[in-house]
Amino acid sequence: MTLKLTVIGTGYLGATHAAAMAELGFEVLGLDVDPAKIEALSAGRVPMYEPGLDELLARHVAGIEGATGRLRFTTSWQEAAEFGDVHFVCVNTPQKHGEYACDMSHVDAAVESLAPHLTRPALVVGKSTVPVGSAARLADRIAELAPAGEAAELAWNPEFLREGFAVQDTLHPDRIVVGVRSERAEKLLREVYATPVAEGTPFVVADYATAELVKNAANSFLSTKISFINAMAEVCEAAGGDVVKLAEAIGHDERIGHKFLRAGIGFGGGCLPKDIRAFMARAGELGADQALTFLREVDSINMRRRGHMVELAREACGGGFLGKRIAVLGASFKPDSDDVRDSPALNVAGQIHLQGGQVTVYDPKGMDNAAKLFPTLGYAPTALEAVRGAHVVLHLTEWREFRDLDPTALGEVAAERRILDGRNALDPMAWRSAGWTFRAMGRPT
Ligand code: UGA
Repeated sequence: MTLKLTVIGTGYLGATHAAAMAELGFEVLGLDVDPAKIEALSAGRVPMYEPGLDELLARHVAGIEGATGRLRFTTSWQEAAEFGDVHFVCVNTPQKHGEYACDMSHVDAAVESLAPHLTRPALVVGKSTVPVGSAARLADRIAELAPAGEAAELAWNPEFLREGFAVQDTLHPDRIVVGVRSERAEKLLREVYATPVAEGTPFVVADYATAELVKNAANSFLSTKISFINAMAEVCEAAGGDVVKLAEAIGHDERIGHKFLRAGIGFGGGCLPKDIRAFMARAGELGADQALTFLREVDSINMRRRGHMVELAREACGGGFLGKRIAVLGASFKPDSDDVRDSPALNVAGQIHLQGGQVTVYDPKGMDNAAKLFPTLGYAPTALEAVRGAHVVLHLTEWREFRDLDPTALGEVAAERRILDGRNALDPMAWRSAGWTFRAMGRPT
């Protein structure tokens, strides 16, 4: 008999996981405490922008014409508990207000709400990024709360998907990591992931703590790689070198590799920044804070990039922002996403606005979310309209659309032809030959 799965939390991670599991052939019930999300998903509407997810929903959501009907949604914990053999917990773990530590309240609430309804054998599988030690604590809670007793178990299975590639990363992950305490839990997870494993995806079995730490370590390593190249950008700027060339050259060494070496205004989003901070906080609690002091530097190099972009923009405006119009291309924290959580682009836009600049933002998908977060910034419906009358243009999120812009056409509407490329993604020659003063980060002027 095919396993029945529930997915608790239907944000970027959960909605994608639910749809991908239906695609793999399972019956899936998605649960969220937000009725608006459940209503949208039940009608096949994706409440965020994630390429390919709408097609998966159209293929599987029950009630949609021609769909398999394998995917349904609910707000009822009891229904979820009765339905599922395996329950994936995919709720978010944001940074606590005013602290580095991770806010576990959503994960805790999910376990506290589900476990009392677990009357039959079930495996609860945590996918959220959590401080090491959480799985052991939650396993104890399930043992206390679940009427099924020992038949209700916990496993930890961290998620490594990237926003913008969530569907692809979930269907074809580069590894699956499971933290388990029993053979039964491992067997169930092998059954869930049989398809990707048959396609060659490595399946790593570990204890709870190691599984939790794998995720912390992976995001710390990625953050470190980005801050490393941004530190090199600072040195390149001081010495007159070119960080893009440098990254290409060191990347040819296979031990280093080309990926995650794009210098610019640094990393943002709902994961890397808060994850390295939560990891430091947890290491501190464990008495291992010295091991992670380098992450403090990773974080501060990263935050310095945003301030540096503001300074470059001020310089380009002749020393002050008053009376100047600044066009900002990009609002989401990265391309192919509408997510503006801790977006470097919006942070820079906000700082310039607070310092008196008249900022107009354009983003292909992130405008609604940006306007909710920063309602006092100006927004334009197209890149051309954002650039109209601008004294300086800032390219802050490297959407494909921005690489395809026509510098000549933009030059005709801009007040001054000055552009700063905060992502090292535009072609300097194309802009310079159209009469623009072009400056990038960590590259010669
Ligand atoms: C990140 C990880 O890449 C995923 O493996 C992980 O599962 C996820 O966090 C998570 O913890 O949920 P994501 O936040 O979607 O994924 O985005 P990334 O593609 O990692 O980009 C993060 C930030 O780094 C973006 O702001 C991006 O612009 C920036 N970045 C990335 C750079 O500045 N330079 C680079 O070379 C690469």
